[in-house]
Amino acid sequence: MAEAGHRTRLAVLISGRGSNMEAIARAAEAPDYPARVVLVVSNRADAPGLARAAALGIPAEVVPHRAFAGREAFEAALDARLRAHDVEAVALAGFMRVLTPGFVGRWEGRMVNIHPSLLPLYPGLDTHARALAAGDREAGATVHLVTPELDSGPILAQARVPVLAGDTAETLAGRVLDAELALYPQAIADWLRPAG
Ligand code: GRF
Repeated sequence: MAEAGHRTRLAVLISGRGSNMEAIARAAEAPDYPARVVLVVSNRADAPGLARAAALGIPAEVVPHRAFAGREAFEAALDARLRAHDVEAVALAGFMRVLTPGFVGRWEGRMVNIHPSLLPLYPGLDTHARALAAGDREAGATVHLVTPELDSGPILAQARVPVLAGDTAETLAGRVLDAELALYPQAIADWLRPAG
């Protein structure tokens, strides 16, 4: 995707804790990482990830979805912030807003997401409870390109973890999150690094 030597200007969109954002940003501190995190945007002013971004020295902005009349207006404001920072690619990391086909189309092929299941299993919410209810013996996370249909874009990478006896949705989520924090920075690097 990028020319040799060019480090893609990456924005990370969050809604909460921001641990995946931090993992990406820390990986991107390495000079040979193919992206730089130039902006973090949250749709929620109370997202703990905003303070994490600030501590990392990354511009952190809030585009509060509730302040807008509808999804299109919210997304226009979001898009304006991305363009203001010359963002070239977007990583969704615990970003809890469904994006319209219009926004997704503007960033097509340049926007990725991490989802806490082994897609195509369990798109949507409550993935860990659903994996436990199904009696699955493994769980995991998926990094995929964002397309208009939720959690359905082309898969870039997956990480698998075992489901252990006695797991709750919380213990399983913690194990999957540990895997996510390694998976997402690596998947983004592989995605953005020029082939060859
Ligand atoms: C992660 O489990 C991610 O897969 C899901 O939401 C969680 C976000 O965690 N979409 P964090 O905000 O990165 O800590």
